[in-house]
Amino acid sequence: QNPREEKLKKQRELSKLGGGQPRIAKQHEKGKLTARERIAELLDADSFHELEPFVMQRSDVCDNPDERILGDGVVTGYGQIDGRTVFVYAQDFTANGGSLGEMQSHKICRVMDLAVQNGAPIIGLIDSGGARIQEGIRSLGGYAEIFRRNALYSGVVPQISMIMGPCAGGAAYSPALTDFILMVEKQSYMFITGPSVIKAITGEEVNFESLGGAAVHLGTSGVASLTAPTEQDSLALCRALLSYIPSNNVENPPSCVSTDDPARIALELNDLVPEDDSQPYRMHEVIAHVVDQDSFLELQPTYAMNAIIGLARMDGSPVGIVAQEPNCMAGVIDINASDKICRFVRFCDCFNIPLVTFVDSPGFLPGVQQEHGGIIRHGAKVLFAYSEASVPKVSIVTRKAYGGAYIVMSSKYLGTDITYAWPTAEIAVMGPEGAANILHHKQIMDAADPEAEREKVMREYREKYLNPYVAAEAGFCDEIILPSETRSKVISALSVIREKQVQNPPRKHGNPPV
Ligand code: COA
Repeated sequence: QNPREEKLKKQRELSKLGGGQPRIAKQHEKGKLTARERIAELLDADSFHELEPFVMQRSDVCDNPDERILGDGVVTGYGQIDGRTVFVYAQDFTANGGSLGEMQSHKICRVMDLAVQNGAPIIGLIDSGGARIQEGIRSLGGYAEIFRRNALYSGVVPQISMIMGPCAGGAAYSPALTDFILMVEKQSYMFITGPSVIKAITGEEVNFESLGGAAVHLGTSGVASLTAPTEQDSLALCRALLSYIPSNNVENPPSCVSTDDPARIALELNDLVPEDDSQPYRMHEVIAHVVDQDSFLELQPTYAMNAIIGLARMDGSPVGIVAQEPNCMAGVIDINASDKICRFVRFCDCFNIPLVTFVDSPGFLPGVQQEHGGIIRHGAKVLFAYSEASVPKVSIVTRKAYGGAYIVMSSKYLGTDITYAWPTAEIAVMGPEGAANILHHKQIMDAADPEAEREKVMREYREKYLNPYVAAEAGFCDEIILPSETRSKVISALSVIREKQVQNPPRKHGNPPV
């Protein structure tokens, strides 16, 4: 055989081995896939093209140049997901624990740059011991280069971080800057300072899983968007997620032909909201009946469960769903719910995904903890996000829309294009108890039977204010609709506002209260 061909073949084979067969076996023993196996699982069959497989650590920065590993601990390149181009990098834990040195960072930055230049999403598969200790400042500079690109490319192409193993120290800030973080249960973890440092500094004892495992980041910290029990499930989720998202900020999201009738009437919804407004119902059920069948992909499902966010399709076209869940804390808006809603609204706005908002909230959560935690600052983020969002926006008030909660949740004069209310809607400054106490305190106290008097004024308040007709009369609501016709009304509204043009005043960028 031609010796040149022979050499290339050998180098290719060597590069595919990463840190070598024994370390690949060790990775498999842990139940983990290698970087290349993950890429193969993520992309359409045989669509991957690797770039820079022969890049190595610089010989002058390592102790033993003969031990340098081809690829420098990361596999980079491009391929297709459902026929659409994506750029990928996958850290190879078999090569120096996937730790990031100068050359690895150059490889990652290169695919990030290519992704932006070509308007395609960038997906990072992370499995790394973090900054390569031996390369010191060069590794730290490498991370800074990646973080800067994460920040500058935010809102230009979608960025997805798949955490497949460790993601420790400063390294955690790259995923944190991306649009979505997907984690593998009981296998991946993220933290800024690990258990041993925490023990030394604060004395707290904690293990990897309970400090920064998938369950913690999904339910407690709000860092993760989605988790899955296995790597394969997590990679399948990433493919599903991308099916709702355009490849860049000038494209529209990919639509498909829906098998669900756009005019489908959901009679079940007409009796869903209980007569007694202190009784809950499940907004998840409302969403499931309104969007295309089985199309709702909920994000952050166990974080701030009083708020719901997720992607769905309506007549085949992707939409972002934002809602309150009256079944959890009565759908009140707190600090965590505000953060969750704000980030999602801004994501949808970046990528031309119309917003459909379902409102049922008695207001912002009262309490010293919330006030001292900065609910003013956090709640304002929601206002900022909805006001700034120039994508098509439709809102539906299903029941309570009291005070600040009415205003922030995609109300008409925040720029919502079409606003609907169900006959059960209660659009008012506050609920009947609060209003009775403030407006009729003296009248109640002076009455022979204060409790009966309180009931009477509350009943009057309900009749006079707690309905959708006051808002409709004043032009704050475009139409009062039957719950059963919500699907067809929203689909029809979206079809006419899909191409709307909005010109916000020019500026360098806003200064949201983040
Ligand atoms: N720099 C250089 N090499 C590193 C590294 C780093 N940051 N992290 C891991 N490695 C190497 C290890 O030396 C080991 O090399 P070997 O295969 O030649 O023995 C290999 O990667 C695997 O690491 P190991 O510690 O055996 O794996 P593990 O699964 O038991 O533990 C970690 C994984 C991530 C918990 C552990 O490696 C660790 O704590 N790394 C340091 C994390 C950190 O603090 N990084 C700095 C953050 S900015």
